[in-house]
Amino acid sequence: MKQQLVIAVFLFTFQTVFGHLNNVCTSYSAYGIKLVDPKCSYNSDLFSTTDIIIQNHGYPMEQYTVNSGNRFYLNIFRIPYSPIQPNLANRKPIFLQHGSLSNSDLYVLTGKSSMAMRLSDMGYDVWLGNNRGNFYTSSINGEDKAERSYWNFTLDDMAIYDLPPVFELIANVTKKPGELIYLGHSAATTEGMIYNIRMKDHSKKHIKAFIFVGPVAYINNTPFMKILRILVKLGFNTFGARSRVPTEICSIDGPSWRICVDVFDLFIGPDNNNFPPEQLPFLVSGGDIESLKTLNQLVQIVDSKHFQAYRNKGDLSTTFYNLSDVTIPTYMIVGKDDALATYDNAVRMLEELGSKHKKLYAIEKYNHMNYFYAKNLDVAFNPLLDDALDRIGKL
Ligand SMILES: *[C@@H]1O[C@H](CO)[C@@H](O)[C@H](O)[C@H]1NC(C)=O
Ligand SMILES: *[C@@H]1O[C@H](CO)[C@@H](O)[C@H](O)[C@H]1NC(C)=O
Ligand SMILES: *[C@@H]1O[C@H](CO)[C@@H](O)[C@H](O)[C@H]1NC(C)=O
Repeated sequence: MKQQLVIAVFLFTFQTVFGHLNNVCTSYSAYGIKLVDPKCSYNSDLFSTTDIIIQNHGYPMEQYTVNSGNRFYLNIFRIPYSPIQPNLANRKPIFLQHGSLSNSDLYVLTGKSSMAMRLSDMGYDVWLGNNRGNFYTSSINGEDKAERSYWNFTLDDMAIYDLPPVFELIANVTKKPGELIYLGHSAATTEGMIYNIRMKDHSKKHIKAFIFVGPVAYINNTPFMKILRILVKLGFNTFGARSRVPTEICSIDGPSWRICVDVFDLFIGPDNNNFPPEQLPFLVSGGDIESLKTLNQLVQIVDSKHFQAYRNKGDLSTTFYNLSDVTIPTYMIVGKDDALATYDNAVRMLEELGSKHKKLYAIEKYNHMNYFYAKNLDVAFNPLLDDALDRIGKL
């Protein structure tokens, strides 16, 4: 292990000094000799940022900073049009929101095949959101990240304070209020539903439909949740990081990747060998820091088996959310091997949602990240997403 660390540090230093060394490989085993193996190449998107990655691929990029009016500035990115679809008129706005431990990178990391660029090529006006606390956000009042109070926020705060000004900005720019499609992954689906329930008039005015990928109104008690519960008890402020170290270590060789993927699968469900080896460095490097209070809200949902607002210690009662109050048309896509957003929970959600238009699509052998990283994305996931978009287009 020590030896492997030395190699990782050496490669990292070498890479930093000389640059442009191979960092992705199309097979697991090639990673062991990635500097010379023809199955490996250099991908400049690795360890980059949303704005740069969009531009790397020849797409126009706009960046906006939104004042949430409650502690945080949020950076929002836009791909207004695609180089292969350059007309700006008649583009339907779509907002892509990441879940816990993530950021807007999620939607662009896989380049041309990423959800953001694919939707842009299909003619959508693509907007990428960021949740308070992550790499692309900052404190309005110069609060210190090392302080516990910096991380004092929940999914309710994001839904009530952060989403409304973002949607107002998008409406101001696009002049198409009410046409925005909200596509969220994981906790972004939770956030979207809370927004619909708590900000009823606002959401009705701004959002045309939800597309929920790996939807979370209810969650299973996975090993991940058990670890979070312990960290909450120990008094940690945050979980996760935006760091290149795990990727450098996992990328040492094939066996190290097998171990990393096995550990990952423990948290999100089996990947059924469906992760493309050349995308593994993005899967691992794409994480970000998350407030443990936010994650604790998910733990509370696990424990109560109800969709609920964050409950402070000492609160006499809990605010429960009723899915019958979610009324925006909702299209859900769930993997049958998703350990966090399970198929059974999605079925329960479908039953309870108040939306008049609602539909659940299931994909065999997909875990919680296969929606973004899968060899068979084009045949298993994309047709379902396109069907949902077609249906929304006819609403
Ligand atoms: C956290 O924020 C809430 C308001 O959202 C406030 O009532 C509470 O005192 C804050 N707690 C800490 C530890 O800062
Ligand atoms: C949107 O436009 C309205 C009216 O011009 C303005 O009051 C508001 O501040 C704008 N909101 C954002 C987030 O840009
Ligand atoms: C949610 O609301 C519906 C309709 O008002 C009601 O029938 C149901 O019992 C409520 N569910 C919960 C868990 O309160």
